[in-house]
Amino acid sequence: MVNIEAKAVIGTNSWGGKVYGKVIRGSYAENSVIKDAMREAEKQGLMIYDLARDYGLGKAQKMFGRFAEEIGKDQVIISAKYTPLTHYKRNCVRKSLEKDLADFRRSYVDIYWLHLPTDIEQHLAEIIELYKEGKIRNIGVSNFTLEECWLSKQILDKAGIPLYGVQNHYSLISREWEKNGLLDWCRENGVSFWAWAVLEEGMLTDPRAKSKFSLMKFFMNRQKRKMHELYRVMIAVAKRHDISVAQVAEAYCVNKGVVPICGCRKPNQVKELAEAVGVKLTSGEIRKLEEAADHSGAKVLGHDLFRFAVLKATPHKARLTALH
Ligand SMILES: NC(=O)c1ccc[n+]([C@@H]2O[C@H](COP(=O)([O-])OP(=O)(O)OC[C@H]3O[C@@H](n4cnc5c(N)ncnc54)[C@H](OP(=O)(O)O)[C@@H]3O)[C@@H](O)[C@H]2O)c1
Repeated sequence: MVNIEAKAVIGTNSWGGKVYGKVIRGSYAENSVIKDAMREAEKQGLMIYDLARDYGLGKAQKMFGRFAEEIGKDQVIISAKYTPLTHYKRNCVRKSLEKDLADFRRSYVDIYWLHLPTDIEQHLAEIIELYKEGKIRNIGVSNFTLEECWLSKQILDKAGIPLYGVQNHYSLISREWEKNGLLDWCRENGVSFWAWAVLEEGMLTDPRAKSKFSLMKFFMNRQKRKMHELYRVMIAVAKRHDISVAQVAEAYCVNKGVVPICGCRKPNQVKELAEAVGVKLTSGEIRKLEEAADHSGAKVLGHDLFRFAVLKATPHKARLTALH
């Protein structure tokens, strides 16, 4: 294991092609803008990127590898994932990681996450093999419940490898993993908690900012109507600290001991994320933000959004039982 102290992480889900950007995200960032964002990350000392094979409809990893080479890839920390969309098959993780490494133009990844809790034992066993070969430097799990994290830790403990982290959905308006004890468990066990979509896909940014139509924004608008009071509190906190509304959502996570992964593809977004890490919110501000968030009842992404994609164990056994 190589010690990685992440304070905040650049998410790459919104990188990608023109059609994906315009239709789904509402706008498209030119390659030159993304490269400038990466240069800004270097300037800010925030060279840590969260990636996965399907991000940007399959384009994000390749873009990252190409661009990183231009700006000095050795200093970049790479977080990547294996997404088990089918049941475990021998070498499935190895084959996927080999493709990732070719995309990244690197011989190892710094953190590798099992993206869904399907066939946990088998997938982790292969990830452990790759760790021992030096292709993976830290192991994490993503979209796992407390029970599944506990099981993963047992498996890794047996191999003498620490569980580096848990990467789940968490934000000011989606705090279930805190309420059900997972965050405390992580803290007690020295496991890092990375939160994805801390800006709720743009919903926890300044409501006064003008933006173009996108499918995501269309679905968000109904929820946004419930959030007047939360926005009022966020704007007041932003004014007090002289920061943006998005930075309030980012700083909120940092102040809760959570590592925010934030979808950044523009230099100013990277700069804001890096600066948000140092913002100290008072306990009174945190309480007011949480009360307003809870009263709003707004939800876009469930805390366990991808549970539908988790496959049940031993399907062949279930099929045999049905036949007899
Ligand atoms: N493990 C998992 O299962 C999982 C699942 C989903 C996501 N993730 C990770 O989490 C990352 C974050 O999620 P996400 O990108 O989907 O959503 P997000 O970070 O919640 O939101 C991204 C949106 O916020 C906007 N934004 C970013 N910084 C801003 C700023 N400073 N001011 C105003 N607006 C700002 C972006 O605007 P623009 O549109 O202008 O760029 C984009 O619309 C992903 O990139 C990915 O790495 C992991």
